[in-house]
Amino acid sequence: MLTTQRLMTAAKPNVHPSGIRVRTYRTSEQASLAIATEIASLIRKRRAAGRHCILGLATGSTPLRVYSELVRMHRQESLSFINVVSFNLDEYFPISRESRQSYFRFMQENLFDHIDILPENVNVPDGTVSAAKVQAHCHAYEKRIAEAGGIDLQILGIGRSGHIGFNEPGSDRGSRTRLVQLNAMTRSDAANDFSGIANVPTQAITMGVDTILSARRVRLLAFGERKARIVQRALQTSVSKQLPASFLQNHGDVEFIVDASCAGE
Ligand code: GLP
Repeated sequence: MLTTQRLMTAAKPNVHPSGIRVRTYRTSEQASLAIATEIASLIRKRRAAGRHCILGLATGSTPLRVYSELVRMHRQESLSFINVVSFNLDEYFPISRESRQSYFRFMQENLFDHIDILPENVNVPDGTVSAAKVQAHCHAYEKRIAEAGGIDLQILGIGRSGHIGFNEPGSDRGSRTRLVQLNAMTRSDAANDFSGIANVPTQAITMGVDTILSARRVRLLAFGERKARIVQRALQTSVSKQLPASFLQNHGDVEFIVDASCAGE
């Protein structure tokens, strides 16, 4: 059996003409183990240097296997998260933390409850603040990222609308954490989770495009045929706010980590 280390080197990145490195793994399982290994190695490197490791985290079905692998490494390979500070990309607005669809709850259940990260080092945009306070909350979120020293490694998924975080088409290159409107495709993709589109919030809080591009490393994960077309467009269209993921073409250290069925196109 291949070790995760060998799997990583097995998938040599192709540098796309856009400048984005694309690593293709046969399966999403292999891709997930490889990215978990990259995260673990960064956490350990920072710890050895007596420093915090600042992670930008994503929700959705795509990173689930990455999180379960990190939990396994914590349990079986003594990977500690004691020096990790995390910032999640986004959260529905408004939403309670107990709500089944809240990203706060998602992160607790799939990662934070099972590792030794300090609760005070966990940051998820707060879907419970009042509408009057949401702007101040977004500014405070940006300030916390800056005070932590900026994000070392940002994990991203991609929505079929081309969004990263909840930066929908039309989002500015210079946008920062803010309240946004969700578009029709995104709400329809979330309809199952909310037992019907009518229950899907129309708004969300998201890190901005510029917040994401300020991360020192960005790793976008996309698995399955369903994502093939939007990934291809993000790589091939010229940079445009109509396709927010295309802004990644201008980042110096970005990789798209895809499986064979996503790479099909
Ligand atoms: C939501 C999240 C995104 C995520 C996207 C894709 O819209 N806000 O951050 O990338 O879903 O989700 P999935 O990974 O389930 O396809």
